Amino acid sequence: MIAVASDHAGLPLKLEIIKLLEERGLEYRDYGTYTTESCDYPQFGEAAARAVASGECDRGLLFCGTGIGISLSANKVRGIRCAVCSEPYSARMSRLHNNANMLALGARVVGTDLARMIVETWLDAEFEGGRHSRRVDMITAMEEK
Ligand code: RB5
Repeated sequence: MIAVASDHAGLPLKLEIIKLLEERGLEYRDYGTYTTESCDYPQFGEAAARAVASGECDRGLLFCGTGIGISLSANKVRGIRCAVCSEPYSARMSRLHNNANMLALGARVVGTDLARMIVETWLDAEFEGGRHSRRVDMITAMEEK
């Protein structure tokens, strides 16, 4: 199950990526927003992040104007590693090396086709573990301090 969420600025791109998830037969839950009325990204970033952190969803996709505000919000939730990516290389590496469980995209930064490529790359990539586990564990340990 993939969590998706956006603010008003990210909504159009979220709807495009939902089409991609449907094409791929992937289940998703949309944690809002559902209209283009101006709203506050932390509310929606937090809702999707809590769904991922609780295990209700496996991974999450977030959208705002830049991808920054909503990723900062998600990263405040314990257990969340959200990467903002504007190209596929970073998206892939965020899975392979950082075990990112959420990906944030800027609807005002990337076009639809590039966003689709970034999301597909991210969904298909798996964490490599090994030495990277130690580093990711160090990030997790910071949450206990
Ligand atoms: C909304 O105007 C915009 O600030 C928001 O979508 C996001 O880009 C913030 O980081």
